[in-house]
Amino acid sequence: MHYSRVSTTTSNAYSPATAVLLNELLKGCISFIIALARTPSVPLLSPALVRRSSIGMPPRPLSWWSRLCHLSAEIFSPDCFKLSIPAILYVIQNSLQFVAISNLPVASFQVAYQMKILTTAGFSVALLGKRLSKTKWLALFFLALGVGIVQISTATGNVFPSKIHEAVGSAAAAAPRLMYVMNPIKGFAAVTAACFTSGLAGVYFEMVLKNSKADLWVRNVQLSLFSIIPAILPILFSSTPGGGISHGIFRDLLKNFGAWAWATVGIQVFGGLVTAIVIKYSDNILKGFATSLSIIISFLASVALFNFQITPFFLLGSSTVLAATLMYNQPSMREKEGPHSITSP
Ligand code: C5P
Repeated sequence: MHYSRVSTTTSNAYSPATAVLLNELLKGCISFIIALARTPSVPLLSPALVRRSSIGMPPRPLSWWSRLCHLSAEIFSPDCFKLSIPAILYVIQNSLQFVAISNLPVASFQVAYQMKILTTAGFSVALLGKRLSKTKWLALFFLALGVGIVQISTATGNVFPSKIHEAVGSAAAAAPRLMYVMNPIKGFAAVTAACFTSGLAGVYFEMVLKNSKADLWVRNVQLSLFSIIPAILPILFSSTPGGGISHGIFRDLLKNFGAWAWATVGIQVFGGLVTAIVIKYSDNILKGFATSLSIIISFLASVALFNFQITPFFLLGSSTVLAATLMYNQPSMREKEGPHSITSP
């Protein structure tokens, strides 16, 4: 994602707004296909079915059309509007992510993005009534401390601000010289805002999902449907100098959309669907555990691909974040036994 943004100049950059829209459209289509495949192929306990089974006849399978009608009724159920809030928040988050990753080194972005754990915990306590042990609060304190150290190390590091970032290293050696000028203050502001939307949207989605019987994939279709309007608005209003709507914008939608841009969208789609599954089968707080792995992977990748300069400060900050994440995810005795387990499967 970082490379797809910083390897361009303003004249040949792809539109992040298009990437956000495509992400939602693709996730919506995939979720719709899965939801349709999961729609029962026989009628559920209708009087006709009971009559047929009482005289020993097998149920007559539903046609695809009936299944489609059944699924549409579920998607447009009266409570579908509940998904509008996380949908808007996720679109904002996905857009902020582009701003952040374009203005920060990958490793610094990834470490700062761990603040999601803090915001998620805060919203889980406030909205879901979850209780956190002292160890978890202590871990959150260390998390904030570690991110603070990384921020200072990035802001005072030798690659910022406004110095042209160059890709070196084996994988990026053949690529054109990177031209994008990064602005770390803007990057950190965007990543901080994205952590808030991530925490709130994730907890809200979990609340909706776990307080109703609707299928995860139906909820995902609803989420994508409500994302389309907020995702399309920036495309409509950014295309003309006066902010009005231009008629040629959809023609330019995929302008400069090369392989790196498509790869970015693909990763976002895959990540989004996996996130939905994680929220369904565990919870948002446990999701934080996986992110500790992402710090290590991003860190190694940015050293190899972007010649990232490791400073002692960066090392100290990221190790603190990593340790805090691991500490946070240690289940306490009460959570292992108690009915209010916050890591319940
Ligand atoms: O970083 P975080 O874990 O908050 O990432 C959430 C990502 O997962 C967002 O890009 C969001 O669009 C996506 N998502 C999704 N479907 C869900 C929940 C989240 O696509 N049901």
